[in-house]
Amino acid sequence: MTRPRPFPWLFLLLLFLLPGLPAAQGQGAIASAHPLATEAGLDILSGGGNAFDAAVTVAAVLAVVEPYSSGMGGGGFWLLHRASDGYEVMLDGRERAPLAAHRDLYLDDSGEVVPGLSVNGPLSAGIPGQPAALAHLAARYGRLPLAQTLAPAIRLAREGFPVDAHYRRMAEWRLEQLRRWPAASAQFLAAGEVPLPGAIIKQPDLAETLERLAEQGRDGFYRGTLAERLVAGVQAAGGIWKAQDLADYQVVERKPVRGEYRGMKITSAAPPSSGGIVLISMLNQLARFDLESYSPLQRKHLLVEVMRRAYRDRAEYLGDPDFVDMPVVRLIDPDYAAGLVRDIQLDAATPSRHTPAGEHGEGQDTTHYSIIDAEGNRVSATLSINYPFGSCFVAPGTGVLLNDEMDDFSARPGTPNVYGLVGGEANAIAPGKRMLSSMTPTFVETGRGVAVLGTPGGSRIISMLLHGVLAMAEGEGPGEWVGRPRYHHQYLPDAIQFEPGALSAGEQQQLQALGHRLEPLDSTYGNMQALYRERGTGRLSGASDPRGMGSARVE
Ligand code: DON
Repeated sequence: MTRPRPFPWLFLLLLFLLPGLPAAQGQGAIASAHPLATEAGLDILSGGGNAFDAAVTVAAVLAVVEPYSSGMGGGGFWLLHRASDGYEVMLDGRERAPLAAHRDLYLDDSGEVVPGLSVNGPLSAGIPGQPAALAHLAARYGRLPLAQTLAPAIRLAREGFPVDAHYRRMAEWRLEQLRRWPAASAQFLAAGEVPLPGAIIKQPDLAETLERLAEQGRDGFYRGTLAERLVAGVQAAGGIWKAQDLADYQVVERKPVRGEYRGMKITSAAPPSSGGIVLISMLNQLARFDLESYSPLQRKHLLVEVMRRAYRDRAEYLGDPDFVDMPVVRLIDPDYAAGLVRDIQLDAATPSRHTPAGEHGEGQDTTHYSIIDAEGNRVSATLSINYPFGSCFVAPGTGVLLNDEMDDFSARPGTPNVYGLVGGEANAIAPGKRMLSSMTPTFVETGRGVAVLGTPGGSRIISMLLHGVLAMAEGEGPGEWVGRPRYHHQYLPDAIQFEPGALSAGEQQQLQALGHRLEPLDSTYGNMQALYRERGTGRLSGASDPRGMGSARVE
């Protein structure tokens, strides 16, 4: 549905009569990973909803049309800015470990991690947070009823959406696991095979689940018939969920973490995401250097070294703030960063201790969207079911594809997860605990305007944000923030991972000569969605990552 537009001559006449007025702000702007989600959100804005209402709609539509990325069986973080009073908060709708979970859940009798157990099937699923977060967002910050904001997703679930190339790639990747569970296979495959391009995926059970949420709010998901079906389905397939897990789930409002870099104000995700802390730590470290005075190669070396140090602290200290004490204030303190950079050498890599590399995701499952409305309300949201198609398990009669977010815990100290990340005590499994995340929904304010951005990509999310913020610091626009070639280091494995073309042959040689190990990737990664609102004029612009098929639109 598109909004009726005024006659162009009327618009021109107004411009002529009222010179000096700020540019028209329209309804707002949305950047998301799927054109159907962007469009549905814009319809909500033009129908009288604010950014928070549109955030409900976009998340719910993505749950339907990007089932491999996020969904009602997953969770996420919503960073909010309310224009009327400047209030900022992070809604923590992260999954929690079931109450019957324990630290050795994924180990065999000899203490070894059982391959696949934290990634496939219902035992890998945390208790979902997204339905509660959407109900909370609507009740506390929106102005439209859920019946209205969930309507586009309900319609798309019932009427279906067409399969595209990306859907097929993701389904192919997880085919074996999707085939294991009849309800998942029926929902996402065609007679047990990857559906053909253009095939229509209808999800009537999911439509019904969304209707329950629309009618009954959070209880429609976490109590009653649906909750019973979820628990029964999980238990029958070997999982450990109980009714109490769902009934007890709570969204938490958390204070975002804040930092500064060259006069830019960074507002980002707080624990249980590591994103804001690691991003600010990297920026604090870089602030100790006059980047312009270094060669492009030296800058790359420096970026890698600050990534290494910030990710090391992630592994060491970070976890669920409700379970562990973390030195957050220290980790984002510029003086602490000054200490971190002291042993950076310009002519040599600092070795991380060696450990085996994990498997690495492609970086387009999980999803991010950014919204700014005409009043200046903002939402930066990154949502996940973790791996493509999450656990691949759907509880019969629910249409809800469960996450495999339990793999974000450290199953055993020092053993890497699917993103190659290691962790320790702070991120060990405990009943009811939230697993550490890398999702980094962020706002960046400069003297000239404010940016809203984020991306999927597992452990590489945070270094992608770093590249984006540095592009902004260099005066570039949204197209460059999302488009810039990417490279990454996460402490362990001790290697620079990089997109094809991100490092020239000469740079690769020189970095190796400094002692860096290189791990070229055979594909690009990430799917950043960015918006920008100019101060004063309110003029909006945005960009959707060229690596994905999303859309950024200003209306
Ligand atoms: O919360 C996290 O950090 C992960 N579950 C995010 C996973 C992700 O971005 C997958 N995309 N490649």
